[in-house]
Amino acid sequence: MRILVVGGGGREHALCWAIAASPLCDALYCAPGNAGIAQEAECVAIAADDVDGLVAFAQEQTIDLVVVGPEGPLVLGLVDRLDALGIKAFGPRADAAMLEGSKGFMKDLCARHNIPTAGYGRFTDAEAAKEYIRKNGAPIVVKADGLAAGKGVTVAQSVDEALDAVDQAMGDKAFGDAGAELVIEEFLPGEELSFFALVDGETALPLAGAQDHKAVGDGDTGPNTGGMGAYSPAPSLTEALEAEVMETIILPTVRGMAADGYPYRGVLYAGLMLDGGKPKLLEYNVRFGDPECQVLMMRLRSDIVPALVAACDGSLKNFDLRWSNDAALTVVLAANGYPGAYDKGTEIRGLDDAAKTGATVFHAGTAADGDRVLATGGRVLNVTAGGADITSAQANAYTAVDAIDWPDGFCRRDIGWRAVARES
Ligand code: AMP
Ligand code: GLY
Repeated sequence: MRILVVGGGGREHALCWAIAASPLCDALYCAPGNAGIAQEAECVAIAADDVDGLVAFAQEQTIDLVVVGPEGPLVLGLVDRLDALGIKAFGPRADAAMLEGSKGFMKDLCARHNIPTAGYGRFTDAEAAKEYIRKNGAPIVVKADGLAAGKGVTVAQSVDEALDAVDQAMGDKAFGDAGAELVIEEFLPGEELSFFALVDGETALPLAGAQDHKAVGDGDTGPNTGGMGAYSPAPSLTEALEAEVMETIILPTVRGMAADGYPYRGVLYAGLMLDGGKPKLLEYNVRFGDPECQVLMMRLRSDIVPALVAACDGSLKNFDLRWSNDAALTVVLAANGYPGAYDKGTEIRGLDDAAKTGATVFHAGTAADGDRVLATGGRVLNVTAGGADITSAQANAYTAVDAIDWPDGFCRRDIGWRAVARES
């Protein structure tokens, strides 16, 4: 098969790495890719949200399967355009991608189909939003309805903070059009868990559990980021909990989307809150988590390509995936200053030394300059290692991290700490 992966981050590097290992893959392209992805795939200079450019490339190159990494092109209708041309594409169509593209859409779906989630209101009028906040009190959560690059959520500890969040989104337009509508919802206490399933329109196949760390600092402190590290398996995801999440959240969503006329295909990523062991849905993403995908790909023992094709073709029923019994853990190296302002173009050395330790370094934001590798993003590298348990995967990952010479970057030193504490 001739396969095109869309995106240029660590998630797409891990997807390319897994796809390139498939005997079914005859040619692999990635748009736009990065310096690390170039070792697995031919990178093409087309931006991930350039739908016209991607469609034209897929046609010219007679691509058999397009695998879409990020949510942007899904919400823009890339899969609809490819479907219309008869080109197989992994990911939801634009109407189903609204599960991530509109938080209000997601909440209404939950309400219609009795899926457990936080109580909420939808608002296009700032005064009505403020009235709701005053009536319900704090803590309370204010969310921009649309895509806001992970920045549109305020977990407000006081009524004043929540009222400010309304002014920022609706008055200052801090999130542009994404904040023209707000979802305001009940604060849910508890422990967060990510849950992934492949979906083919009717059937859902749960993937291994994975857990990320969103806060920038050790001990889960400081501002939120796209994710500073991840590990798999997730010790809190027991078999019983997996069955409950499938029964009460994932399958009602898949059936509800189909019944409402938006059948969902692709990977469904549920952000869950566990309160007293009971799962509630915080949010849906319509793509793999980044960096969760990196640890899932490292533990996957089955060929990924037939699974992606089965999700496209509606043939996931009775499909099975095998996972390594080993754990995997990834540490994100980010540019100094991230998630605030940071420099681009600094040189990274020692990547070969890191690879010699046995770890795999996925590139998230790099470009090649001759033989040199330069940092081009906020999150730059994902140093990923396996081990018999999370404690040893963690040790292996940090051994590789320490082999990398990049004074302009930093990482958290405690990725996996909760799981390591459970293991000790
Ligand atoms: P979201 O993008 O909706 O997942 O929100 C980003 C983060 O905000 C989540 O990962 C949670 O840490 C937090 N959050 C979102 N909604 C709630 C809620 N209803 N209660 C408590 N925390 C929340
Ligand atoms: N790691 C969180 C995300 O991909 O949204």
